[in-house]
Amino acid sequence: MRIIMLGAPGAGKGTQAKKIAEKYLVPHISTGDILRSNIKNSTELGLEAKQYMDKGQLVPDSLVVSLVVDRFKEADCKNGYVLDGFPRTIPQAEALDTALNAISEKVDYAINVEVPDENIVKRMSGRRACLGCGATYHIQHIPPKTEGICDTCGNELILRADDAPETVLNRLKVYHDQTQPLIEYYSAKNILKEVDGVQDMKDVFNDIVTILEA
Ligand code: AP5
Ligand code: MG
Repeated sequence: MRIIMLGAPGAGKGTQAKKIAEKYLVPHISTGDILRSNIKNSTELGLEAKQYMDKGQLVPDSLVVSLVVDRFKEADCKNGYVLDGFPRTIPQAEALDTALNAISEKVDYAINVEVPDENIVKRMSGRRACLGCGATYHIQHIPPKTEGICDTCGNELILRADDAPETVLNRLKVYHDQTQPLIEYYSAKNILKEVDGVQDMKDVFNDIVTILEA
């Protein structure tokens, strides 16, 4: 089962990708998490990516594509994976298709989690993220047991640098310009599935399960 999660920043791609990964026992591959972990460890990639991410811009395709293509050749991906935050541009989608074609594989579903822009800014200011394990919380919808501390690994929770309202607006603009065209791209391949991301998280997940088990 090879799944791509599409949707605006804050639509709930990460939230749903984690649940899919748990239920279907496939790895959750988030380019955002991989990049943030590189920033935390001050790697060369992290230092370069940070300049773009803090402004809400996309990291250049050349840096991101090889990250993902190397990752899905690892052994734990043999039964599939959930890609979260990749592809994010048409060139990335084409690079993914080329890499998959070369090993006679293809994407099975592109799931678009739809949330209108006006809901997004509100959600992002309440999000708290763990840089230790990638877990995501929301101060109202899914608060951690102890304020500011990750339930899973005990690390401190942060407000992501790119979740400041003005940066979120820029990320939304970048999304509409560069990522939204992927909806048409995957629709043309007949693998696009749409879910209403404004619903409660568990209802969004139920809709996804219905699609995957149809
Ligand atoms: P990335 O980390 O992918 O960020 P993003 O796409 O902007 O999306 P988010 O992670 O912010 O949102 P999400 O959809 O995962 O929502 P979440 O589940 O957390 O990328 C960050 C940056 O890295 C990019 O800007 C770019 O610079 C770079 N980058 C990454 N990949 C790249 C690529 N391929 N190419 C180039 N650059 C790349 O949910 C959000 C909040 O809402 C949470 O608090 C959650 O608890 C809450 N929530 C979720 N669902 C619901 C619900 N149904 N109801 C109420 N609240 C909900
Ligand atoms: Mg995410």
